[in-house]
Amino acid sequence: MAVRKITLIGEDVLRREARKVKKFDKELHRLIDDMVETMRDAPGIGLAAPQVGVSQRVLVVELDEDEEDPQSGTLWEFVNPEIVYFSDEELEGEEGCLSIPNIVGDVWRSQKIVIKGQNRFGKPQKVEAIDWLARVFQHEVDHLNGVLFLDRVEGPQDLRRLVKVVDEDGEEHWKAIPMVTMKEAAVGE
Ligand code: NI
Repeated sequence: MAVRKITLIGEDVLRREARKVKKFDKELHRLIDDMVETMRDAPGIGLAAPQVGVSQRVLVVELDEDEEDPQSGTLWEFVNPEIVYFSDEELEGEEGCLSIPNIVGDVWRSQKIVIKGQNRFGKPQKVEAIDWLARVFQHEVDHLNGVLFLDRVEGPQDLRRLVKVVDEDGEEHWKAIPMVTMKEAAVGE
């Protein structure tokens, strides 16, 4: 296994529609293993193949262990995923992306989804996901269609930049700074 280089916004591969996987061979398994290692190394909670420069329909997701979320702590690997159900009910939440470092934004996503696809051996699999896991799957499937969370943010007023600040005790924290003030956003419209 190896940590691969993460592609960044501006690279073509992030804007392409990724190709369907037809061969469930060693090369695919190596790709998936490397994606898991790259995601954990970053660290991140989801990664799509275009983010390691491979235009194929593969994603991995693993939420940080959280006692209150039974969906957390499991590693999901999906080949040729497709979201077959989106709930009408949506939730707004803060998203970031390893390909768009230090920027977060508010995005509306379906609160519940059903995702279908295959595992690394080509066996069909289906998962029902709610809340945070549902959001992460929607974000990663977007990557396979060349869509980034920035495309789903309603306006610049919903974007924030993450900067490291040091408090009085000398401890480092991440702080979210608005990219534009409401006034600037209005002028831009
Ligand atoms: Ni992303």
